[in-house]
Amino acid sequence: MRICRYATAEQACRAAALILASQVIRKPDCVLGLATGSTPIPTYKELIRLYEEGLLDFSQVTSFNLDEYIGIPEEHPCSYHRFMRENLFDHVNIRPEATHVPNGNAEDMAAAAGAYDRAILEAGGIDVQVLGIGRNGHIGFNEPDDSFVYGCHVVQLTKSTIEANKRFFASEDEVPRQAVSLGIGSIMNARCVLLIATGVDKAKAVRDAVYGEIDPSVQASILRTHPNVFFLLDEGAASLL
Ligand code: F6R
Repeated sequence: MRICRYATAEQACRAAALILASQVIRKPDCVLGLATGSTPIPTYKELIRLYEEGLLDFSQVTSFNLDEYIGIPEEHPCSYHRFMRENLFDHVNIRPEATHVPNGNAEDMAAAAGAYDRAILEAGGIDVQVLGIGRNGHIGFNEPDDSFVYGCHVVQLTKSTIEANKRFFASEDEVPRQAVSLGIGSIMNARCVLLIATGVDKAKAVRDAVYGEIDPSVQASILRTHPNVFFLLDEGAASLL
């Protein structure tokens, strides 16, 4: 595990963008695992900037997102489909058909989740997986639990996550109670993992992930067993290390 501390959130996010950019340059047909949420927005801005400068070409890149809410339309302003289009996909030359976000409206969620895992395998697996971290230590929407779930699956969002994510919705009541998320197995199968954490409200989760027991009550703690994981932290997120 490599812990990289930066003075600012901007730097931590740009460092993530540089690793992603070098992956795209070294392997133009790479598979990127992408996250939503506030944390990676500056990373995506930097990737867009590098693309606009002519340094990056996404025409052969494939992407798989970590998660999606269940029960809101893809066009909903808070859906992760829409987030990705607005914050990255619409601004670079990635082929829309090469971008994948779990379907939160599938009739058979279990079948759709299994198909999502298989699509990742068929694409050759994820080269670089971007992660944020929840205040409760979740990665993707793998919430604190008594086990690690391997594959893509339906999750019940915890009170802490609903509370944290209500800022994107008109009210807390509108935050979906369920989501579909890549499992811990699929995240751990990525060849490289970048966990970006910024802000002091992530400090406890980061400390628990780095120093606590490797335990499903802090799902990010499993990342310590990954052979190629980078924790990219600003001063706030690293303040309890
Ligand atoms: C988003 C995701 C979540 C977020 C986490 C942090 O796709 O999988 O695990 O990364 O909830 O969210 P922010 O960055 O909004 O603090």
